[in-house]
Amino acid sequence: PRSIFMSRHGESQYNVEGKIGGDSPLSERGQAYACAMPALILDNIGDAPLTVWTSTLQRTIQTAQYLPYNKLTWKSLDELDAGVCDGMTYEEIEQAYPEDFANRDDDKFNYRYRGGESYRDVVVRLEPVIMELERQENILIIGHQAILRCLYAYFHNLPQADLPYIKIPLHTVIKLTPKAYGCDEERYTLPI
Ligand code: F6P
Repeated sequence: PRSIFMSRHGESQYNVEGKIGGDSPLSERGQAYACAMPALILDNIGDAPLTVWTSTLQRTIQTAQYLPYNKLTWKSLDELDAGVCDGMTYEEIEQAYPEDFANRDDDKFNYRYRGGESYRDVVVRLEPVIMELERQENILIIGHQAILRCLYAYFHNLPQADLPYIKIPLHTVIKLTPKAYGCDEERYTLPI
């Protein structure tokens, strides 16, 4: 049976600084994750064919850089656009836009950043990615927190209200194997 593997990019410089969005490079720990990925995937999949999908942001491309498979870059896999809040910490956002911060807490799925996107917007832009995923064989997606929440919720049929709170930790590969109804799941966390 074919599998869909998904992982967030390795820890980025912005992750370390607590800033959202941006296009920062991997931290040293993130680099170590990138180095460890090939063995993890090989152990799991052996010599079966695999295609790696990344976003256009450098933290996903760097995470995929040592993987010896065909790679494809999707603009639609870029992280949720936080608009005017891009590059800020949650603390800074709460200071600068207290009303927005509260509104997001009230309805995280529908809240749209000023000049940016909501989770609902991201679900819509991921439709073509999901269509293609449904047609493909083994795929490894190196993505972002909000994006992987949407894809994970699709494959597990989780409700929209829960979607923005799904836990997708760093340095963890989630393997989904679609069944007649639902998906089997395994997780591999690297101690990095
Ligand atoms: O902090 C990393 C990150 O990927 C941000 O770029 C993004 O805005 C955020 O996570 C999404 O998580 P949440 O919707 O919980 O703020």
